[in-house]
Amino acid sequence: MTEAAAGPVQVRATVLTLRRVDAYHALTLVAPAIATRFRPGQFVTVAVGGPETSLLGRRAFVVHDVYGSAPLFALAAKLTDRGSSVDFLLGGQSADRVFGALTARRSGRSATITTADGSLGARGPVTVMLEQVIREARTEVIYASAPVPVLRDVTALAARYSIPVQASVDVAMACGIGVCMGCVLPVTGTDGITRIVRACVDGPVFRADLVRWDDVGTIPFDALGAPGWKPKAEGHLHAG
Ligand code: FES
Repeated sequence: MTEAAAGPVQVRATVLTLRRVDAYHALTLVAPAIATRFRPGQFVTVAVGGPETSLLGRRAFVVHDVYGSAPLFALAAKLTDRGSSVDFLLGGQSADRVFGALTARRSGRSATITTADGSLGARGPVTVMLEQVIREARTEVIYASAPVPVLRDVTALAARYSIPVQASVDVAMACGIGVCMGCVLPVTGTDGITRIVRACVDGPVFRADLVRWDDVGTIPFDALGAPGWKPKAEGHLHAG
């Protein structure tokens, strides 16, 4: 299912291939109605077992390829088409966990890689190389997809350089349709009020400076609707 301007699309898809890509499994489905509407950042939720199944939960998957693109890779392709320069910074636990390194090297202006065990590129999380990439590439915008602790660190580092970050949050999604509340996180609106939002239907891409990264996994006491929440007292200033 993918959320386009006209709403979610639900289709029956045929499994074309299931193959191993390093430490991952890549599933290729024939679903032209989704492929033609897909936009970077969207995901699909897959139900299996047919109408009689006891498997009620769907599972959310990011889309790697729509006949030649991927979540951040699809975005990179679009940005490149529009004349922007794209610098990739990819990370993983080990060399076989770095997804899309070849594509990044082929299609980016630069591709920097880090691994936790040092088996490919610099040793450590992506943040060990982020400042260097920002300085060398004169980064204007960061598009990040990563687990929450990494997104938190990327956001904090980017703030020092006043670089806006769009973050695609990598949280567990059980239903993918806004029902189970398994994917919630606190996000502060431009009105200053923190709301508990669902990554699957309200995201999964958020303005990173509005996400309360340190409070992900909790319901902050000052979030709208939390047990301790009270509307802020309104102040009025009279002049003259
Ligand atoms: S995954 Fe169930 S509400 Fe988001």
